[in-house]
Amino acid sequence: MKAARIMPSPRIGFTLSKSRWLYVEPYSPLALKGPPSMAIIGIVAVDRNLAIGKGGRLPWHYSADMKFFKETTIGNAVVMGRRTWLTLKGPLKDRQNIVLSRDPSLDSQDSLIVMHDVESVLSYAGKQDGHLFVIGGAKVYASFLAHIDRWIVTEVPLTVEGADTFMPRDFLDGFEMYELRQLDEGLRVKFYERVSEARP
Ligand SMILES: NC(=O)c1ccc[n+]([C@@H]2O[C@H](COP(=O)([O-])OP(=O)(O)OC[C@H]3O[C@@H](n4cnc5c(N)ncnc54)[C@H](OP(=O)(O)O)[C@@H]3O)[C@@H](O)[C@H]2O)c1
Repeated sequence: MKAARIMPSPRIGFTLSKSRWLYVEPYSPLALKGPPSMAIIGIVAVDRNLAIGKGGRLPWHYSADMKFFKETTIGNAVVMGRRTWLTLKGPLKDRQNIVLSRDPSLDSQDSLIVMHDVESVLSYAGKQDGHLFVIGGAKVYASFLAHIDRWIVTEVPLTVEGADTFMPRDFLDGFEMYELRQLDEGLRVKFYERVSEARP
């Protein structure tokens, strides 16, 4: 099952070239909602070397990014890997939490659904209102790579020593940036949409 592509919602801004827009505005969660069709959206924070994790945890804490993540994903479904799930204190509030694991003994519980393969997640999400946010970690990003319609990438102004989990160098191949936002704490968020067919 492949979700319908959605185009970014109309917006003001100024043209960088015929196909590119740079658009900076105060944060508006509704800007992401776009048309009603479901999109599969990867959301990730990376350091200067595309590191995303260290020792099984996030190697930084930025409240501006936590707030942005919450406001962006709220009301939608989120899918995460079992290892990322283990780093949380519980299900993310006001979102349908999906945990991906091959372990058949891992059970669903209140406000948390365990699924065992990507196809089941896509099929489930396609029947829900709202978007599916792929929230990591690296193995889950890799598993959904061919299905992602948009990426939302927070650039963290750090180079993490000893990081052990990274995004693939080419994860944005076939995507084009259409929006840039500045968050507090020196963070920049870049929004990308797919401009070429997904890889097989
Ligand atoms: N910077 C960020 O934005 C960000 C976001 C999220 C996480 N992280 C970091 O990323 C790190 C964790 O990433 P990770 O790659 O080690 O683990 P992960 O992707 O969170 O979880 C991996 C586990 O998910 C399950 N899984 C993954 N793909 C699957 C598939 N196709 N089918 C079925 N099950 C699948 C497997 O669980 P089973 O072993 O149970 O089968 C696998 O061992 C942590 O350091 C975390 O803090 C960073």
